[in-house]
Amino acid sequence: MTPEQQRHQAQLAFAASGAELEVGSPADCPLPVELLLATAAASPWVTQHFAGGLTAEVYRIEAGGRQWTLKRARMPCKVQNVDGQTSFLNEVQRRAEIQRLKARPGGAERFAALVDTQYASYRQGLLLSPWIAGEAVQEWDERRLLQLFDCLHVLLLEGLFEWDLCAGNILDDGRIRLFDFGYMYRFDPLRAFNSNGTAMPQFHGAERFETRHYFAHLLRLEKQSEARALDAFELEKRIALQAYQRLQRELRQRGASPGVLAWLETLIQRWQGALRAGLDGLYLEEAWRSHWLDLHDDLGGQTCTPLTLARIDWLQDCLAARHPDLQSLGLLAGRGQEHWRAQLRQAHGDATRWQVGA
Ligand SMILES: Nc1ncnc2c1ncn2[C@@H]1O[C@H](COP(=O)(O)OP(=O)(O)O)[C@@H](O)[C@H]1O
Ligand SMILES: [Mg+2]
Repeated sequence: MTPEQQRHQAQLAFAASGAELEVGSPADCPLPVELLLATAAASPWVTQHFAGGLTAEVYRIEAGGRQWTLKRARMPCKVQNVDGQTSFLNEVQRRAEIQRLKARPGGAERFAALVDTQYASYRQGLLLSPWIAGEAVQEWDERRLLQLFDCLHVLLLEGLFEWDLCAGNILDDGRIRLFDFGYMYRFDPLRAFNSNGTAMPQFHGAERFETRHYFAHLLRLEKQSEARALDAFELEKRIALQAYQRLQRELRQRGASPGVLAWLETLIQRWQGALRAGLDGLYLEEAWRSHWLDLHDDLGGQTCTPLTLARIDWLQDCLAARHPDLQSLGLLAGRGQEHWRAQLRQAHGDATRWQVGA
């Protein structure tokens, strides 16, 4: 069994067992749990309702003189695969672990980027956190990138791999914050590349951020000017490089396997070389990969948005304009241009059919 199949099996068995998993206790809630469970958009304690979520309904509520976020699991959730179906259980499991990390000496500061859990109950489909009075990130400057990579760094060292670093899952209230752990999985950072063991070396922390988020941001910058997009890419790569050098050092000290260290070394060398000699090829490579992978995520879950279509546009334009470069970078897997054109036509049809709204 692959690590992914093992996770699915264990989580589905837990779901079928009827066992409860709680974080904290009902007594920690600022309102009785019965009231929280009865929450609807019109409840007097609700000040905002996010109905657009695929796996949950999210309410901003006011209680006990503070603002909270109440997340109610969607039963069934709208994502059509096992990862989606188990994402609420997964989130409660990760939150239990994160609360334990925060309780260690120095943990509150080290893991400050991860939202606190006031109370969670898997069986009741309820999760209560402090409200983060922040905004989605519009402009990725140095401070924000450093904080994000610092957060990824401490997560990776603890063996927590976050797959879904999309724009809707990052807030900035003066500090970068993560709060949605539905697709954060455990792994052994000393022996594995990610939560799929060593089978998929293409997936790592920086890649997840670029794929799910940063290249959507760069897509918008490209429309203003290619130079702006390239500058923003350079900033991100410099910060990612520093973060990976530090990660490699700390994993080595902890006794990481030669395979993991060599895999990081390959990434470090590639980025270092491009930062010295020119980023054009690396930009093309990472952009092609990011848009393509993210497109498959959306198609796999049948959850497409206007951004999915914008990514397809980019890939089609890129294929037309830069076919020889794509080929020489080895990004076309030996297949001809017509093959990729047909793939993209098919993807466009599916993504149009599976729009779930922004
Ligand atoms: N603690 C929080 N503080 C502020 N806003 C939040 C918080 N948690 C969630 N949100 C808002 O609710 C939205 C959906 O929450 P999220 O946990 O990402 O649910 P889903 O699993 O449906 O993606 C987020 O994009 C964010 O805007
Ligand atoms: Mg989310």
